[in-house]
Amino acid sequence: MTANDASPHHLQLTRDGQLRHFLTLDGLDRALLTDILDTADSFIEVGERSIKKVPLLRGRTVVNLFFESSTRTRSTFELAAKRLSADVLNLDISTSATSKGESLSDTLLNLEAMASDMFVVRHSQSGAPHFIAESVTPGVAIINAGDGRHAHPTQAMLDMLTIRQHKGQFEGLKVAIVGDVLHSRVARSQIRALNVLGAEEVRVIAPGTLLPNDVESLGCKVEYDMTRGMSDLDVVIMLRLQKERMEGALLPSEREFYRLYGLNQEKLALAHPECIVMHPGPINRGVEIESAVADGPQSVILNQVTNGIAIRMAVMSMAMGGQVAERQHKLSERGQA
Ligand code: CP
Repeated sequence: MTANDASPHHLQLTRDGQLRHFLTLDGLDRALLTDILDTADSFIEVGERSIKKVPLLRGRTVVNLFFESSTRTRSTFELAAKRLSADVLNLDISTSATSKGESLSDTLLNLEAMASDMFVVRHSQSGAPHFIAESVTPGVAIINAGDGRHAHPTQAMLDMLTIRQHKGQFEGLKVAIVGDVLHSRVARSQIRALNVLGAEEVRVIAPGTLLPNDVESLGCKVEYDMTRGMSDLDVVIMLRLQKERMEGALLPSEREFYRLYGLNQEKLALAHPECIVMHPGPINRGVEIESAVADGPQSVILNQVTNGIAIRMAVMSMAMGGQVAERQHKLSERGQA
């Protein structure tokens, strides 16, 4: 298989293995994920300056295309693009021509005609960013900001950055992901990232109704009992119940779910004393997590949000670099470099 094959993990790499789109963590190796984390680390200090800007994307146009609601991802992509000195267009889908029946392809053709350099795409349909990457004008980078149940790769990478900051390394870590794994694009990307980066154990803790049939094949152990599942943990990642994606009754009640799988101080005390508590947000207090835990000393939930800016700066600058390198390859092939 070559880097030009249309599968998402090949579509997103240049012929010499650089990122040119960021669609999924599938097919990306440990060296590349570590490079993203190291690049993000180098951007953290930009957020601590009085003038929070570097010129890496100066003159470039980044379009945020969010077909689903978002607070954290959309805001941090916008801030990241601005800190890289890009011009940023946030298309308001609710007031765009999409509401008049314009297709996704036609919307994109029109935005490409405005000389856009990058589309950041969130969509309820799994595979939408991949579809766009296949058809977009060469030179335009596509970044997946969450597609259906499939993937949320920048969320997983900001989570990995947060874990590395607090734990130093991935080797030897036991990490649990708790709750609605079935509907979670975040969990799929996290499991992939943790395995590639060398975590000792990835555990999912959930009722059977909230787990995909083939969950073990993603690279994790399954635990149905949270009391057993919390033992020895270094990191616990709570997930939101995605009621908007649930078809039919998958739970007896929210109250019963909270009793069995909600993270409270009593259950957290079963983990390693240094265990950190994570959540991609939005959190539902009293549904999957108690306020005393969400706001407590072991919580790193807001650190995750802050790290979202540095990770998104890293991914956007790396993808733009890959697009430039790919263009130069093509020009030199044609003898025009
Ligand atoms: N974690 C996350 O994707 O949050 P938003 O839906 O607010 O972007």
